[in-house]
Amino acid sequence: MSDIKVAMVTGAAQGIGRGIALKLAADGFDIAVADMAFQEEKGRGVVAEIEALGRKAIFVSADVSKREEVAAAVDKAAAELGSFDVMVNNAGIVGQVAPIAEITEESMQKVFAVNVNSVLWGIQAAAAKFIELGKKGRIISAASIAAIKGFPILAPYTASKFAVRGITQVASQELAVHGITVNAYAPGIVGTSLWEDLDKKLAAITGKPVGQNLKENVDSISLGRIETPEDVAGVVSFFASPNAEYVTGQVLLVDGGMLYN
Ligand SMILES: NC(=O)c1ccc[n+]([C@@H]2O[C@H](COP(=O)([O-])OP(=O)(O)OC[C@H]3O[C@@H](n4cnc5c(N)ncnc54)[C@H](O)[C@@H]3O)[C@@H](O)[C@H]2O)c1
Repeated sequence: MSDIKVAMVTGAAQGIGRGIALKLAADGFDIAVADMAFQEEKGRGVVAEIEALGRKAIFVSADVSKREEVAAAVDKAAAELGSFDVMVNNAGIVGQVAPIAEITEESMQKVFAVNVNSVLWGIQAAAAKFIELGKKGRIISAASIAAIKGFPILAPYTASKFAVRGITQVASQELAVHGITVNAYAPGIVGTSLWEDLDKKLAAITGKPVGQNLKENVDSISLGRIETPEDVAGVVSFFASPNAEYVTGQVLLVDGGMLYN
């Protein structure tokens, strides 16, 4: 059996996914950088950053809401990089930001397709590949503080992240027999384009100036600063490491001290 270690990170062209891809590369993994086709140029930039760290990397185009595209992406990563050991289901969107009364059927379907179905497709594809290759693989998915507590004006997003927590618990129990672990990370307020966009949408609803909603949220963090993709990547690195061999079915808050459980 080869000792190459390969990880796929979805939504890795930017933001938290890029941070995770770079951290896992620094840990010694070769990386499949997966993202939407329109993100290919940025994704190839991340591939170049990984290669500069001395690891192999490929860009894989996939819409993670589509079951067949996720399965094909995993096949491609394993074939081109020569192994498959870690799947990070990171891609996600905020979706409609509005009071409950205004939430549409279309927006619920969209956010569930991208944030929830993708996690199921990622678990299915990765588990099948791990079993085929005889690997005790690791599956790690993006939850959120909104997986632990409901946030007003964010019903679709909150519901989707609670669902990620549920699927993580189910899959960890079903896949334990194969030695596969399934966990999730729950970031707080990370300074990415997701929050830039969310802040603008919240400003339109709350009437506060752009930047104010973000500032108020950051002010509530015990450690007193906004979260970085690197803060999140440290937790993913732990879940992918030998140190986490006995951890499964967990959702780990990495929020600088916002929620406590
Ligand atoms: N930013 C935060 O404060 C925060 C907090 C908690 C959880 N999260 C979660 O972390 C994850 C990453 O968030 P981010 O802040 O880096 O967001 P981001 O918007 O900066 O990046 C998301 C990436 O996912 C990709 N993506 C979106 N839909 C996709 C699809 N259907 N198929 C493939 N790729 C797709 C995008 O192209 C983009 O590259 C998300 O699941 C998000 O919900 C973020």
